[in-house]
Amino acid sequence: MKLLVCGGAGFIGSNFTRLRLRENGDEVVVLDKLTYAGREENFHDFAGDPGFRFVHGAIEDPQAVASVLEGCEIIVNFAAETHVDRSIAEPDAFVKTHALGTYVLLEAARTLKGTGERELRYVQVSTDEVYGSIEDGSFSESSPLRPSSPYSATKTGADLLVQGYFHTYGLPAVICRGSNNYGPYQYPEKLIPLMILNALHGDPLPVYGDGMQVRNWIHATDFGRAIGHVLEHGAPGEVYNAGGPDECPNIEVVQRIIELTGADESLIEHVTDRPGHDRRYSLSSEKVRALGWEPRVRFAEGLEQTVAWYRDNPWWWEPIRSGDYRAYYERQYGRTLA
Ligand code: NAD
Ligand code: DAU
Repeated sequence: MKLLVCGGAGFIGSNFTRLRLRENGDEVVVLDKLTYAGREENFHDFAGDPGFRFVHGAIEDPQAVASVLEGCEIIVNFAAETHVDRSIAEPDAFVKTHALGTYVLLEAARTLKGTGERELRYVQVSTDEVYGSIEDGSFSESSPLRPSSPYSATKTGADLLVQGYFHTYGLPAVICRGSNNYGPYQYPEKLIPLMILNALHGDPLPVYGDGMQVRNWIHATDFGRAIGHVLEHGAPGEVYNAGGPDECPNIEVVQRIIELTGADESLIEHVTDRPGHDRRYSLSSEKVRALGWEPRVRFAEGLEQTVAWYRDNPWWWEPIRSGDYRAYYERQYGRTLA
């Protein structure tokens, strides 16, 4: 297959691209705006593959999108602003990329279908955050959508737009909603890489509130394979949840990272909680399991591998930690990194 992977220079998109090139023998064109989170370094081991091409451009730019569609059979849209804390501070880019960007991609697919030339399939990569918080049990695909933050509200808007294009124009689109991803190449603003790098440097470990918020962790390769199952076997118009095998309160995640890095427990610092913080996410993934998908990586093993990857790959994170990320960190946490 030939895939257009939007947002493929980011964390999950680059892991997904690697899988599709290596395990499936697909051709992949990545379209990415290269925001602070998108990095060409993430292509380091497959940049020269004959089946791979990178185009620098934004999904909200119709010309950039039109220029990369030739021969593509499927659009997989990862492109997004993805950090909840940034969406609270500056929601603007979240609205543009999620609403306008998704619209431009859907319009491109609709226009192509209208010419009768060929029908592009479409996969929207979405999140468990569209359902909001749940105390007990798990969300299914038919649970009501109750997003809490500008990030999740705009991701919900994008999902609804995709469903509108399926119902109105018959666009063969599916949505895959993942739980919290972790693994290599994740930008260090997110909980796990932030705590790993801070622990390795002896920086304080900032736990929001009481740290008893629960997340359901899925390794990025497991989520990538779930998206693969959905694009190969999913029914048009359907939503598929893909949750990880293990859930864990944040404070326990941080304690495990302390053990794995050999850092001192006194580095833990409880800081002011995130406004509107969702207490717990949990997904039922029965529907995607029925397509033949199973997560392969348990959290304990995946976390150990992830800590080892960050420890062994300073070439990847040093330019980030000594660049714009420092200013972001100071704004967000009110202190300077070591
Ligand atoms: P990321 O921030 O690492 O990467 C996002 C990528 O999108 C970057 O390469 C960025 O440059 C690109 N991008 C942003 N705006 C763009 C635009 N307007 N045009 C083109 N490219 C643009 O994010 P991630 O964690 O890899 O998340 C990828 C997708 O998966 C997102 O849609 C996110 O909502 C979803 N998701 C993430 C998680 C998670 O835990 N990280 C969980 C479930 C779903
Ligand atoms: O659930 C899927 C979502 O997971 C994705 O859609 C988002 O794109 C992704 O960013 C992630 O959102 P979270 O808000 O859950 O991830 P984050 O890594 O920011 O935070 C995880 C938990 O850790 C959350 O309860 C907040 C807490 N946290 C986070 C940071 C950055 C802290 O306690 N301290 C921190 O410094």
